[in-house]
Amino acid sequence: MARRKKVYEGKAKMLYEGPEPGTLVQYFKDDTSHDMKQTIIAGKGVLNNRISEYIMKRLNEIGIPTHFMRRLNMREQLVKEVEIIPLELVVRNVAAGSFAERLTIAEGTTLPRSIIEYRYKGGDKGKQLVSEEHITAFGWASPQDLDDMMSLALRTNDFLNGLFFGVGIRLVDFRLKFGRLYLDEEVLLVIADEISPDNCRLWDSKTGEKLDKDRFRCDLGNVAQGYQEVARRLGILPESGPADLKGPKVMQ
Ligand code: TMP
Repeated sequence: MARRKKVYEGKAKMLYEGPEPGTLVQYFKDDTSHDMKQTIIAGKGVLNNRISEYIMKRLNEIGIPTHFMRRLNMREQLVKEVEIIPLELVVRNVAAGSFAERLTIAEGTTLPRSIIEYRYKGGDKGKQLVSEEHITAFGWASPQDLDDMMSLALRTNDFLNGLFFGVGIRLVDFRLKFGRLYLDEEVLLVIADEISPDNCRLWDSKTGEKLDKDRFRCDLGNVAQGYQEVARRLGILPESGPADLKGPKVMQ
């Protein structure tokens, strides 16, 4: 069997050349890391593949373009090859994490409105919080790109808030990456990477229990169980095989 060419390896995913030009295969690993800590969480890659597939499919359906094409197997999905913009957009609805710490706002405080932050990923000092001024001055993205990313991020936030609210989960914040998709006549900005408990903060609406990567970041334990619970509530964790796949389970 021909060996596939690996084009990128990150901490949680790998990218291989896809079967056709303009496509890539995105492989979800079980590896996880935060600051100096790293470990393997058995089954995390499988869950993230399913959760991200579910969300990206829905986004595509409602006209929010993503790089996602289709899931190939337990750990892989076929995606469109895009030119990654070296920025992360963080959308925040509730104070938590670095935001709560930086501004000394109590974790769990609902923000007066959704706030978007930008982090630049290109330097050798890790991710740095930057403003639109930095982004346009250094040409990391154009003012039009920023408008498009902001609008897609807010639409995604509205959609995800509704989706998670319906299954008893509070969407605290999440991080998006974008890519440029080169079409014949135009360049389209699309959501890339993944949307999963690795890059969202998801709290149980009633108890406030954390169901995301903060379980690892904050040494809370049972990391995979949190991800599993998210998948179960979205109706994408089959309890008795694939025939059991259902839509989201609406919480009363
Ligand atoms: P933060 O509060 O630590 O800045 O994180 C904000 C959101 O971004 C949270 O949902 C976790 C996510 N995130 C990533 O996806 N990758 C990262 O490297 C970091 C630091 C955060």
